[in-house]
Amino acid sequence: MKRSESDQENNIMASVQETLQMVSGDGDTSYARNSVLQAGEQGNIKPMIEEAVANLLDGSNRYPGGMMIADLGCSSGPNTLVLVSTAVDAVRRRCMQLQQQPPEICINLNDLQNNDFNSVIKSLNTYKQTQEGSGLILTSIVPGSFYGRLFNKCSLHLVCSTCSLHWLSKAPEDLVRNGIPCYDSDEVARRARRSTVMKAYARQFNQDFTQFLGLRAQEMVRGGQMVFSILGQRYHDEDDAIGHVEFIAHVLHEMSSMGLIDQEKLDSFYVPVYGPSPDELRVIIEAEGSFSVTKIAVHEPTICVGRGITTAKTMAQAMRAAMEPMIVQHFGSSPQVMDEFVLIAEKLMKLSPLDEYPNKPGVFLAASLVRT
Ligand SMILES: C[S@@+](CC[C@H](N)C(=O)[O-])C[C@H]1O[C@@H](n2cnc3c(N)ncnc32)[C@H](O)[C@@H]1O
Repeated sequence: MKRSESDQENNIMASVQETLQMVSGDGDTSYARNSVLQAGEQGNIKPMIEEAVANLLDGSNRYPGGMMIADLGCSSGPNTLVLVSTAVDAVRRRCMQLQQQPPEICINLNDLQNNDFNSVIKSLNTYKQTQEGSGLILTSIVPGSFYGRLFNKCSLHLVCSTCSLHWLSKAPEDLVRNGIPCYDSDEVARRARRSTVMKAYARQFNQDFTQFLGLRAQEMVRGGQMVFSILGQRYHDEDDAIGHVEFIAHVLHEMSSMGLIDQEKLDSFYVPVYGPSPDELRVIIEAEGSFSVTKIAVHEPTICVGRGITTAKTMAQAMRAAMEPMIVQHFGSSPQVMDEFVLIAEKLMKLSPLDEYPNKPGVFLAASLVRT
């Protein structure tokens, strides 16, 4: 490979963790104001977190050295503290049932370096004030990628995460290396390539998730619990498209045909997200071998938040909140161009709702694992 090609490949592949960031602050387009779908899924996995806490506090361990709880990919806004506070409440309730003193708890909030940690710190301070007198809560911010080591060995008791672990570490290597775009404007070519694109995304997810599990296995104690929820597919069909990836790429294609973004840059833009099927997820976890699966459940996003809330507009704004910094950086465009992104996404979703786009509805996969 020529040097310039290899440099270009490195740039595309290195960029995900540097450019991935939700829209910060609490303005109209922020993640904080546009994360109701994710909030619904956090509500859905509360019982799984409570079950995981009950497994940790089965009467045989009082955690004299404290309990370490982490949320990976916490972002900022109203969802940031939901998982850890659910866990803290569950620990306290369980200790009351067992008539034992609750342990000291350290909550660790992780996200990438560009996350709005200033707002996370403010939320943490407010939370700590509300907890005064109820037991010691220590807090820690852990910036960095969950595709690298984040915590000391054998230190974590409970790991939680929602809507984060489907973000890949990089664009699918096979596509980048072979110069294959994730979306072809020509429908025939697109259909012909779907299987190649799908397989490349699935391989990248397999590689990333295997690495993620191996790293967490080092950091978690034996018997430690992990509860997470990610985007997924109901079943795996290699000839089908990846709903969210293809939808966002379609919106960007419309934008490029209107001259709003550069077509050439579009061919090297890969939405770095993959949602596996339940079977795919189970196979990866079993092959990695450090965790046993307690449960994998499929959750319907529309049911999570009630049908009234998931309008085309809400969905389009949620996509903007998650994708804007990455799109703006890749295309060198202004945030104002993203107003068009929302309008086009809304229009396309009304023509063909995401639930039907292209053939396969996106779901959340919630899983509960134990470190063996
Ligand atoms: C859609 S938000 C979910 C936020 C929150 N957990 C919720 O449910 O609303 C996804 C978050 O995952 C973070 N993320 C993605 N890849 C990551 C990685 N490799 N390491 C750490 N955080 C990551 C993003 O920065 C983002 O804040």
